[in-house]
Amino acid sequence: MHRGPLRAGEWVRLVDGKGRKHNFCLEPGKRFFSNRGHLDHDELIGREEGFTVTSSAGGEYLVFRPLLSEFVVSMPRGAAVVYPKDAAQIVAMVDIFPGAHVVEAGVGSGALTCSLLRAVGPHGRVSSYERREEFADVARRNVSQFFGVAEGESHPAWRLTIGDLAEELPASGEKCDRIILDMLAPWDCLDAAADALRPGGIVCAYVATTTQMSRFVETVRVHGGFTEPTAWESLVRDWHVEGLAVRPGHKMIGHTAFLVTARRMAPGERAPRKTRRPAPGAYGPDYTGPRSADAADALPEE
Ligand SMILES: C[S@@+](CC[C@H](N)C(=O)[O-])C[C@H]1O[C@@H](n2cnc3c(N)ncnc32)[C@H](O)[C@@H]1O
Repeated sequence: MHRGPLRAGEWVRLVDGKGRKHNFCLEPGKRFFSNRGHLDHDELIGREEGFTVTSSAGGEYLVFRPLLSEFVVSMPRGAAVVYPKDAAQIVAMVDIFPGAHVVEAGVGSGALTCSLLRAVGPHGRVSSYERREEFADVARRNVSQFFGVAEGESHPAWRLTIGDLAEELPASGEKCDRIILDMLAPWDCLDAAADALRPGGIVCAYVATTTQMSRFVETVRVHGGFTEPTAWESLVRDWHVEGLAVRPGHKMIGHTAFLVTARRMAPGERAPRKTRRPAPGAYGPDYTGPRSADAADALPEE
């Protein structure tokens, strides 16, 4: 997969002179149409990627296989996907290693699943949980398309379970090294995640809003079986580089989501309590979220 002559059934990515992108699946006898005429798929099948073709009306197109980061933003979607810049953060900062056993929920459109499957390699395992059958179908098709899995078969390192992670993961009895929660209410899955994670394992939540981030962080603190959580976001800025005109690009993805991680302590062990007291008012009368022992100590004396 992903090298050698282009084959029928694979996706290609055509980019025109204005940078417009067209992604499609190669099918013998089919035609690609654009505002610059048409191109026969048969002209592309069998050629080594990295060439330029000219359409019937003189449009020039650069032809490559899409990279994973390009595939996930153009593939069919059931739910919002983890963006490539965040998938890269997850693979690096959640330390997804070859041979790891990773649990994720929900699978959504399967974008993060593809990054995880690549990172764990042939000796690892990705167990995905998804509540909605129709999203799971989209994810199955996307994963199969990206990895070139034959019809009726599934990726050998992937297991997909339909159901709520909070119920299905404990029922499965599986133990894992990493858990990624990309869903509206990751705090509902924290107990199940804690029971399944091996000591030293990492839980990671990918959440879109500050209120979700706050609730997840505080729930991890209240649980007590994890290290102090780390929360962050990543901002990526393109640069325009042309002669003396070297400046940041005009367009930028402003916000995708926040990441929160924490490491699982060994059974019965607790991380040392924080030596620094919370900021004054952080857990004042207006704060109504989960409250750990440190936060309770920060309450003003009656
Ligand atoms: C934003 S999407 C996930 C996108 C996916 N990570 C990707 O990169 O394509 C969130 C998904 O989580 C699923 N979901 C929400 N809560 C869940 C739970 N407790 N267990 C399993 N799936 C859940 C939803 O049905 C939805 O498909």
